[in-house]
Amino acid sequence: MSIISKIKSIFKSSSAPAKKASTPTKAAAPAKKTTPAAKPVEKKTPAPAAAVNPKEVETLLAAIKERRTIYSLKPELPEGVTLSDIKDITQAILKDTPSAFNSQPNKVIILTGEAHKKVWNQVVDAIPTEDGKKRPQSAADEAYGTILFLIDDAVTKSLQEGFPDWAAAFPDFAVTSNGAVQISTWTALSQLPGFGAHLQHYNFLKGFLGDKIGENYTVQAQLVFGTKVAEAGEKTYNDNTIPVVTEL
Ligand SMILES: Cc1cc2nc3c(=O)[nH]c(=O)nc-3n(C[C@H](O)[C@H](O)[C@H](O)COP(=O)(O)O)c2cc1C
Repeated sequence: MSIISKIKSIFKSSSAPAKKASTPTKAAAPAKKTTPAAKPVEKKTPAPAAAVNPKEVETLLAAIKERRTIYSLKPELPEGVTLSDIKDITQAILKDTPSAFNSQPNKVIILTGEAHKKVWNQVVDAIPTEDGKKRPQSAADEAYGTILFLIDDAVTKSLQEGFPDWAAAFPDFAVTSNGAVQISTWTALSQLPGFGAHLQHYNFLKGFLGDKIGENYTVQAQLVFGTKVAEAGEKTYNDNTIPVVTEL
């Protein structure tokens, strides 16, 4: 069952525990006869917290919180993790991520071994400053692989032709959906013990992929991954409380 299906089923069933909350009140009924004054207090004890905070949602929120940018990597897979694990998880996310009109414009390519190193070394060579070379050099030398996120622009073009009134929106819709694939993949893989990754945007590396990539594809981002050597630093948060608006 997908994460989304799980959450849907949890929220569907969330009314059930609320009904169950009436059971303890019934059980307390005999006590009313002996201590009538205490009865109203007992009625105040439904269990809504459990109903709105099921364990599966907590697990998902913890994964979202635990995903971090990890720059300190070594070029190995974490112990017990296979490349198939990484591919299967990414494949599942690619499949289930929503897209405009269910157009599914997202593509993913995983680079490892010689291909990973060759592409990043070419990025290094293409960057003129020593400082600018540092990040791609670390990707080449310290990471095990790269997950490339792409958009098939032919899909966007055909949507624009099919729905001309919405033509201007489709490129943004594709990027939005691709971003969802990126973050979900990063989040899910970060749950694998020892896994570390950082997200990069050297999108010109498309030119170094040769015939592995169609002309109609654009590279959107790179998730550079390997075994985590050090944890992420402390993260600061802005105050960003969500207002709930009921009237304007
Ligand atoms: C859309 C997006 C673009 C990003 N681009 C880069 C990037 O090009 N290079 C980089 O090192 N990190 C990049 N990051 C990582 C952010 O810097 C990082 O997520 C942010 O500082 C918060 O840290 P955290 O990932 O540990 O939570 C990007 C993140 C997002 C979501």
